Amino acid sequence: MSKRIAVYPGSFDPVTNGHVDIVERASTTFDKVIMGVLVNRNKKPVFSPEERVELIRESVKHLPNVSVDCFSGLLVDFMRKNEIKVAIRGLRAVSDLEYEFQLAHTNQLLYPEMETVFFMPNVNYVYLSSTTVREVASHGAELSGCVPPCVAKALKEKFKNSAL
Ligand code: PNS
Repeated sequence: MSKRIAVYPGSFDPVTNGHVDIVERASTTFDKVIMGVLVNRNKKPVFSPEERVELIRESVKHLPNVSVDCFSGLLVDFMRKNEIKVAIRGLRAVSDLEYEFQLAHTNQLLYPEMETVFFMPNVNYVYLSSTTVREVASHGAELSGCVPPCVAKALKEKFKNSAL
């Protein structure tokens, strides 16, 4: 029987407990889940792709069937190259729908054999996002319980000289 492999793509700048919650759920449904970190040269992320990969690795080390990789360009190209037919996305609130539908439908047009599968996070993470985490961290504060300990440490280090 062929293995069910899925990719969980995202910016993960940085990975949050919401992302970890989603991948924990996905890892019970799929044989293998690859967290795909988007390398977007046009954006200036807080963490480099290498740092993001390292932080994710540390955060998901309790999940043996989850691995981490980087991709640039189109997600569907990464999926084709790696023979992956399922993309996972987290759906937090109705406000996510518009963007997620746009993404899923565009990907489906480009790669009709693929499916996007949505997972709902624990209600505690419904309003949690990497953007909020970055904003709070840039002011020297911490959202305890919102990011894995290694991410909290890395954020503190990253913003130690820029806190207002
Ligand atoms: O965590 P994010 O930023 O919401 O993730 C968005 C991501 C990385 C899944 C999406 O932007 C993506 O797949 N980008 C790669 C380019 C692509 O394939 N776009 C889809 C067609 S518009």
